Amino acid sequence: MKEIIRTEKLFVGYGENIVLRELDFIVNKGEITVILGKSGCGKSTILKTIIGLIPPISGEIYFYEKRMDYLSENSVNDLYKRIGVLFQNNALLNSLNLYDNVSIPIKMHYPELPKEVEKEMVFSMLSQVGLLQSFNKFPSQLSGGMRKRAALARSMILDPDIIFCDEPTTGLDPITADGLDELMLNLKNVFGITLIVVTHELRSIEKISDKVIVLKNETVHFSGKYDKLFTFNDSFINKFFLKE
Ligand SMILES: Nc1ncnc2c1ncn2[C@@H]1O[C@H](COP(=O)(O)OP(=O)(O)OP(=O)(O)O)[C@@H](O)[C@H]1O
Ligand SMILES: [Mg+2]
Repeated sequence: MKEIIRTEKLFVGYGENIVLRELDFIVNKGEITVILGKSGCGKSTILKTIIGLIPPISGEIYFYEKRMDYLSENSVNDLYKRIGVLFQNNALLNSLNLYDNVSIPIKMHYPELPKEVEKEMVFSMLSQVGLLQSFNKFPSQLSGGMRKRAALARSMILDPDIIFCDEPTTGLDPITADGLDELMLNLKNVFGITLIVVTHELRSIEKISDKVIVLKNETVHFSGKYDKLFTFNDSFINKFFLKE
């Protein structure tokens, strides 16, 4: 099965305030789908809606061809266990050190897991993102890039099938950003993970995307391969990519 997420006539927003309307798009398994659009157009809102933090105003969301609102609570919980999320603001808990932040999903979904196993999982993940030495530091003691990597470690700790990353490289220096791009590509190429990434960074989009979804005027303006973006020859996209 190629398709992993599909939306049909999805309207997202907050109460009466519709942010995006009639969204029809598909995320394919094992691909990196990049979502882009101007600040405030609703990229974070759409991610939060797909992962169930904000209820859709109307329309349908399908995971693995199953309609989310038709699934039982248990099936929905099982599905969410297979999803990792890196939030735009990292959403690390300031009162917990790195080890405890990264182990939150384990404690939440597998509270019975022996401490020794948890320890092994957390330390192995911290080592993958280069933060092993900092395991007992608190978020306030970490740099911006380290916090992003910590949030990424937490999103990956349960070995997810799908990872949502909201602006993973924004504000990082190009070298650190490149490292994170490499990490995401590795997750896709080595582990077959599907990634949905919100980013403004042109370098990242060019390097990592299999598919790009451009949002404009409250809906999907373009959806397709990165190369196709330019044959599309559209003034909004050209402006976005500084080609005009
Ligand atoms: N909790 C909320 N309650 C009400 N409105 C909200 C809430 N969060 C965001 N909004 C509004 O929804 C719209 C989309 O916001 P969102 O954060 O999804 O944009 P974005 O595309 O992620 O922007 P950015 O690129 O700056 O992160 C904005 O108009 C914002 O003011
Ligand atoms: Mg956002």
